[in-house]
Amino acid sequence: SLLSGGDQVADKRHFRHFMLKEIHEQPETAELWVARHLPPDLSSDEPVALPLDHSFYADLERIQILACGTSRHAALVGAYLLEQFAGIPTSVFYASEFRYAPPPLAPHTLTIGVTQSGETADTLAALTMDAQRRQAHGEPAFAPRQLGVTNRPESSLTRQVPYILDIGAGIEVGVAATKTFLGQLLAFYGLALAFAARRRQRSLSEIASLKDELRALPDQLRSLVELHDQRCEVLANRFADTQDVIFLGRGINYPIALEGALKLKEISYIHAEGYPAGEMKHGPIALLDARVPVVSIAMPGVVFEKVLSNAQEAKARDAKLIGVAPECPDTALFDALLPVPEVSEWISPLLTLVPIQLLSYHIAAHRGLDVDQPRNLAKSVTVE
Ligand code: G6P
Repeated sequence: SLLSGGDQVADKRHFRHFMLKEIHEQPETAELWVARHLPPDLSSDEPVALPLDHSFYADLERIQILACGTSRHAALVGAYLLEQFAGIPTSVFYASEFRYAPPPLAPHTLTIGVTQSGETADTLAALTMDAQRRQAHGEPAFAPRQLGVTNRPESSLTRQVPYILDIGAGIEVGVAATKTFLGQLLAFYGLALAFAARRRQRSLSEIASLKDELRALPDQLRSLVELHDQRCEVLANRFADTQDVIFLGRGINYPIALEGALKLKEISYIHAEGYPAGEMKHGPIALLDARVPVVSIAMPGVVFEKVLSNAQEAKARDAKLIGVAPECPDTALFDALLPVPEVSEWISPLLTLVPIQLLSYHIAAHRGLDVDQPRNLAKSVTVE
């Protein structure tokens, strides 16, 4: 099968690029995750099936997450879920910064390293440093409280940390991470469910409804990928000559704005910035005029009205507005709409990521660029 791991042969099938094929594989990534972690025979007192034992969870009080690039964006969504859904204080660090300036060591802390390749030098070194510090403070050397989230269970990461979550996305050839990003996000949904249930942070019905939405995800992704592959191709013609793009999001979708900007930079070489929408007035608004498109991720939830009013402010500066939002009267202000169904805010990043990826893909493809092998970038960066 396409998702069966190390022995598969990379094949573009009928797709023009691996990146496009991998975006189209995301429904399968989700399907496999649901089959593994939310099987129909899951016992009623177990919120999610994860390969983590009781000692993994025992007296955890806080979490720190170390990662680079797209993996760090997955970690930011993860931190939102772990804090807001499961109630555990969580911080995210650039692995390259953590290495030289870690926060003071605190007891009962879990460190999570997120790296799809399992080989990123900064992430591995940050984890090593963290393990050494813990050991110096009396944690057992053979089992530091560390969890790795990776797509490569045979990687260096696995030899280094006692617990691993394999995201099982299958080989990813495109340098720009897409289906592994989805896989990493799903790993955090699993952890958030497990922690929320253990800590009695969420009612049984809240947990059950998040699980129902996750089970519905593969079908939703299937129709979204088809729809946006067409919509984004059309839109890309209009925006392919753009020089700067601003991505705005808030709350759980702020990291998706960061990821949208990173993807566009990586493969189309267009300058892009991701900003929390409320911060636009403190700088980026000075860049706005009719030549700067603004992509606004506006999903119903805590900050819906706020994001829409931030988009309105951009429109007042003549910026062209692209909305990643549900089709409804509130979203009529967008010049172009990439519609996403109305779902619970918790689930929304798993859907908003689709138009964000396809918009970058089609802009880069329209510009005739080497989407799978962008200049100056490598799939995994094994040097500091
Ligand atoms: C490189 C890749 C990025 C990736 C980052 C982290 O820069 O080009 O797509 O997000 O490394 O990779 P990792 O394997 O640690 O997730």
